[in-house]
Amino acid sequence: MRLWTCPLLLLMAAAVGCKETPDDEGFREQLEAVDYRNFARAPGYESPRAASTAPHGDFVDIYMNDVVVDALANGPLDAPLDAWPDGSLIVKDGWGSADGDDWEFLAAMEKRDQQWFWAEYRGGDEVIFAALEDPTCTGCHDAGSDGVLAFTLP
Ligand code: HEC
Repeated sequence: MRLWTCPLLLLMAAAVGCKETPDDEGFREQLEAVDYRNFARAPGYESPRAASTAPHGDFVDIYMNDVVVDALANGPLDAPLDAWPDGSLIVKDGWGSADGDDWEFLAAMEKRDQQWFWAEYRGGDEVIFAALEDPTCTGCHDAGSDGVLAFTLP
């Protein structure tokens, strides 16, 4: 390596360090690994790319894992649920148009120890936000059914 590139690399490293990308604790990779697009579609979101007025894309696909599917199916058998169970995972693709060729956002919420972990990515990749309960997301989502706005607890 030429000597002059070293200060340049240091500068670049400092610039990256200052950007303060939220730490998503590897959540993005986990979403990839579970292949969420093969999950069941959320109630009311059976058709691809439903129109949305929410801040994560004008058209959305919302997916839920088996924990949520089971909660919806079994909840009322015992008693109405007052919270989604731990392990619940809901993932939302936000698109700029109905044809789905511009992936603008990936948003997800996962129940951990009775708290939602929230994360949002731009273009499906860049981490915009990642944290446990936080007003950035709960400001709107607190109005939902234990945090969920698209559908309700059974
Ligand atoms: C300005 C209000 C608003 C804010 C702030 C907001 N959301 Fe949402 N979100 C919505 C609405 C409304 C829906 C319902 C689905 C739709 O209309 O697209 C939704 C749906 C979702 C869903 C699908 C499950 C559900 O609750 O319906 C996820 C996942 C999600 N949002 C993640 C996030 C994350 C992560 C943040 C914070 C970075 C966030 N949201 C902030 C309004 C908001």
